[in-house]
Amino acid sequence: MRGLFTIKQLKTEQIYEIIEYAEKLKKGLRVSYPDKKIATLFFENSTRTHYSFQCALLNLGIKVLDFNTETSSVKKGESLYDTVRTFESFGVDGVIIRHSEDEYFKELEGVEMPIWNAGDGKANHPTQCLLDLMTIYEEYGKFEGLKCCIIGDISHSRVAHTNIEIMERLGMEVYISGPEEYNDGSAKWIPVDEAVKNMDVVMLLRVQFERHTEKMSMSIEEYHEKYGLTVKRMEMMKKNAIIMHPGPINRGVEMASEVCECEKSRYFKQITNGVYVRMAVISKVLDGEL
Ligand code: NCD
Repeated sequence: MRGLFTIKQLKTEQIYEIIEYAEKLKKGLRVSYPDKKIATLFFENSTRTHYSFQCALLNLGIKVLDFNTETSSVKKGESLYDTVRTFESFGVDGVIIRHSEDEYFKELEGVEMPIWNAGDGKANHPTQCLLDLMTIYEEYGKFEGLKCCIIGDISHSRVAHTNIEIMERLGMEVYISGPEEYNDGSAKWIPVDEAVKNMDVVMLLRVQFERHTEKMSMSIEEYHEKYGLTVKRMEMMKKNAIIMHPGPINRGVEMASEVCECEKSRYFKQITNGVYVRMAVISKVLDGEL
């Protein structure tokens, strides 16, 4: 199958090439694919990833078909495979898919057009990971030796699972923190107050209630107090350390509203970088380089 499914499929040098290409696009490099049309198939709610992919397609001169699961034949029981094969039969040049099933793409064996994974269940979110890496690289010009702690609902997060593997591969020290009930052992666990004092990157996650089978053991006020990035904790961070969050933010839960707006926050920059990283991976797949 062609496309971008996981970060694991990318060699380390390909990751650097994507970031460099995204930087060139950000600086104004123009690339155009006026004869192409690509469909966005989002089976889960999304604002950033969905419309960032659409902006990337429009910036590349590609026509966008936006699939609405609510008014589609998915409601009549049509499978993901048959939906994707339908778009392929229309003659579209590729599809961008988000789905709640881990590794949904394994069901799509036989599809020949490119597929870009916009997030699968709790498993992978390769373009979010690339935009996070681009944002860190813009800040520090390297990955080697940097310390990052991901704080929050680790066990339900495809962002955490994707980032931990690649950050370690790139030479970063990665830690996790937050409520013990979300510790899945995917990296070394440290207390929140230790994390905020020592990290170069503090990455917060939303509590992903829609993925929970059991109710959280505390109120959101208690969560904020114990594990949230409050103004007080933000003031404990190293001078040049940065704050990241994949969005959507629940202000006052995982981070105080003022913290989102503070000078250490790269939240809105991450969103901007997402458009360029997605332009880069769309172009590279269409050009046969990925
Ligand atoms: C995340 C996701 O959907 O995986 N958001 C995103 O894509 N920017 C994280 C989340 O929903 O909390």
